[in-house]
Amino acid sequence: MLHNSILDVIGRTPIVRLAQFSEDLGIEVYAKLESLNPGGSHKARIALGMILDAERRGVLMRDSGQTIIEPSGGNTGIGLVMAGNVLGYKVVLVIPDNYSPEKQKLLRLYGAKVVLSDSRLGNNSHGEKCMELQLENPSYVMLNQQRNGANPQTHRDTTAPEILHAFGERRVDYFVSGIGTGGHITGIGETLKVAWPAMRVMGVEPEECDLLKNQHAPHHIQGLSIGLIPSILNVDVLDGMLKVSRQACIDMMKRIMRTDAISLGLSSAANMVAIAQLAPELPPETVVLTMVYDNADSYLPSFE
Ligand SMILES: Cc1ncc(COP(=O)(O)O)c(C=O)c1O
Repeated sequence: MLHNSILDVIGRTPIVRLAQFSEDLGIEVYAKLESLNPGGSHKARIALGMILDAERRGVLMRDSGQTIIEPSGGNTGIGLVMAGNVLGYKVVLVIPDNYSPEKQKLLRLYGAKVVLSDSRLGNNSHGEKCMELQLENPSYVMLNQQRNGANPQTHRDTTAPEILHAFGERRVDYFVSGIGTGGHITGIGETLKVAWPAMRVMGVEPEECDLLKNQHAPHHIQGLSIGLIPSILNVDVLDGMLKVSRQACIDMMKRIMRTDAISLGLSSAANMVAIAQLAPELPPETVVLTMVYDNADSYLPSFE
């Protein structure tokens, strides 16, 4: 099949049964491999979705050379610069200066302008620096994935229908997934619950945090628990939260890569740790669906 641009191959990611993990836990575990998106994560979907939405609202005009600015060191930044390159926008990414130099290099290789914020100023130094730059440059457009309704909407429109189509007449009993902006758990969780009203949605968070009690703490599982309850997260979609430690995630990365041979990052391994906690309470016919957001490549320094 021929495609017009890399943006046309975002989505339609495979859902794979983790055969060995399922056998070990005595339940059925499936993962949607968002790591196979162009750019390597589920964020390719929402980066494109937010840009298309801004175009529909007249905030962005295609091929105008307008500048998109976003605080992101990671996956959303890659998605934005990819989409920006194809659709004719410049992209400025504000990243804390303690983020991985490899990610910075990669973003620059794609042509993004990378501005570093002083991480000593706190967890949200890049968010604050980004606001500052936007005030200095009022023509810059900030899409703000934490507050942008196009983020969960993209998952309602693309990821969730793909899941429903793949399972067909079969059902999912549990959707177990992490929460960063809350975009994918909200969009997918809401849509799947309409199709499968008995399905439960379990959120995953670092052990230091307690989202439902509005308690936040620094942690080291990149992508999860961003220090506040994001405005786009529908808390009502959650049936419970499961807590995981960073060490358990590191051990789980090795386990899954050595058994089911799926490369996965820390936050994706967090989902698997949470599923392993849940499994002893579940009957063997239980079907659990989760997400692999990205692969192990950008986490390799954790293993040196
Ligand atoms: C690696 C990784 N995992 C999980 C998440 C959480 O996804 P969401 O923002 O849809 O809640 C993110 C978000 O940045 C991420 O980058």
